[in-house]
Amino acid sequence: AEHVGDDIVEILFTEEQIQARIAEMAAQIEADYEGKDLLIVGVLRGAIMVIADLARSLGRHVEIDWMAVSSYGSGTKSSGVVRILKDLDTDIAGRHVLIVDEIIDTGLTLSWLLANLTSRGPASVEIATLLRKPEAVQMPIDVKYVGWDIPNEFVVGYGLDYRERYRNLRDIGTLAPHVYS
Ligand code: PRP
Ligand code: MG
Repeated sequence: AEHVGDDIVEILFTEEQIQARIAEMAAQIEADYEGKDLLIVGVLRGAIMVIADLARSLGRHVEIDWMAVSSYGSGTKSSGVVRILKDLDTDIAGRHVLIVDEIIDTGLTLSWLLANLTSRGPASVEIATLLRKPEAVQMPIDVKYVGWDIPNEFVVGYGLDYRERYRNLRDIGTLAPHVYS
């Protein structure tokens, strides 16, 4: 269908709900990092919307850098092996780093990224995610900031894609089954 929202059958979170939750997360982050420098690391490409909104919800200075990672092989993530497609431009040694992604599914991406960034000697590394699927987790990780835990359903919008579409939807929702088949 032509319009980005045409194949959405159920909206899980509206734009307003997302913005309200991100504002709450930002307030918590501001309190936790008071008096400290802060570098947020966005995980391309899904995290672009949450980084844009979270960063603007912070009333304080913050640096933003990006990483792009990909699983090895034929797109399967089950190996847990990740390679760096785009590394940070920033030396994070001694820095307070907050990794931000829009969803934790199996946890493989962020557990690998957490270990990778930890090895670079930052002052601290924490994780923030807008969504998390507790039922799908294969690699338990400590996540300091979570927007919502959701059921193990395929969701799109607000950075989340299906075959590179729907990232630019303002809400988060589920796709009609006919789209997959
Ligand atoms: C998605 C999502 C998370 C990751 C979560 O990214 O944006 O980064 O998968 O899955 P996991 O917990 O099972 O590792 P993806 O690799 O599909 O790339 P994208 O961000 O460019 O869409
Ligand atoms: Mg991603």
